[in-house]
Amino acid sequence: MTAPSAPMTQDELKTLVGQAALQYVRPGEVVGVGTGSTVNKFIDALAGMKDQIAGAVSSSEASTQRLQALGITVLDANSVPSLGVYIDGADEIDGQGYMVKGGGAALTREKIVAALARQFVCIADASKLVAALGAFPLPVEVIPMAAGQITRRFADLGGHAQLRLKDGQPLVTDNGQHILDVHGLQITDPLAFESEVNQWPGVVTVGVFAHQKAQVCLLGTADGVRTLT
Ligand code: 5RP
Repeated sequence: MTAPSAPMTQDELKTLVGQAALQYVRPGEVVGVGTGSTVNKFIDALAGMKDQIAGAVSSSEASTQRLQALGITVLDANSVPSLGVYIDGADEIDGQGYMVKGGGAALTREKIVAALARQFVCIADASKLVAALGAFPLPVEVIPMAAGQITRRFADLGGHAQLRLKDGQPLVTDNGQHILDVHGLQITDPLAFESEVNQWPGVVTVGVFAHQKAQVCLLGTADGVRTLT
């Protein structure tokens, strides 16, 4: 009798979906690369086909460093008119492909690279799939001098915004700005919510990805990779 195998860890599920995402990378193309621990698994897998791709457009300094360390050419986003695919993780994703992102503070560049791509493939372990967005504190990149008024606007919506800290100091993004994490929001209409918050003065990027939603989600589950479209 064989002993039942242990359930896969979250890290193993991330590896699984990171590798599964390779099927969306077409030889000869430039690939858009997101940020985070799940994407790191994808980058590691992508290194195995680095000679078959034309390079990558990266969404953060952290991903750029990892890509380059593995010998993958990183191209300036301005030099690439469009991308076939953008691969990235999420903090939350719902059944329609709407996401909350920015747990790694890279949301602005992630949205920029996602907007270049014809297809957004989200890679995530099963814990990220939610019925409705909002349980994960919503990251919002802001111009520091606007943080106070944006905090009050979120309070009017029932949210509690907290400045993200790193080593006791405000975290500074790759773009030189700050992050507010907003607790207690109920995001019932992601498209309208993203449009509304985006036009508040001082908001650089709101971490709701509804206009740049995922067309495909590769979800790592105990039964293997589930593909949601
Ligand atoms: C970074 C992000 C990440 O995609 C998100 O935080 C998920 O990260 P991880 O794969 O580490 O769980 O939006 O800004």
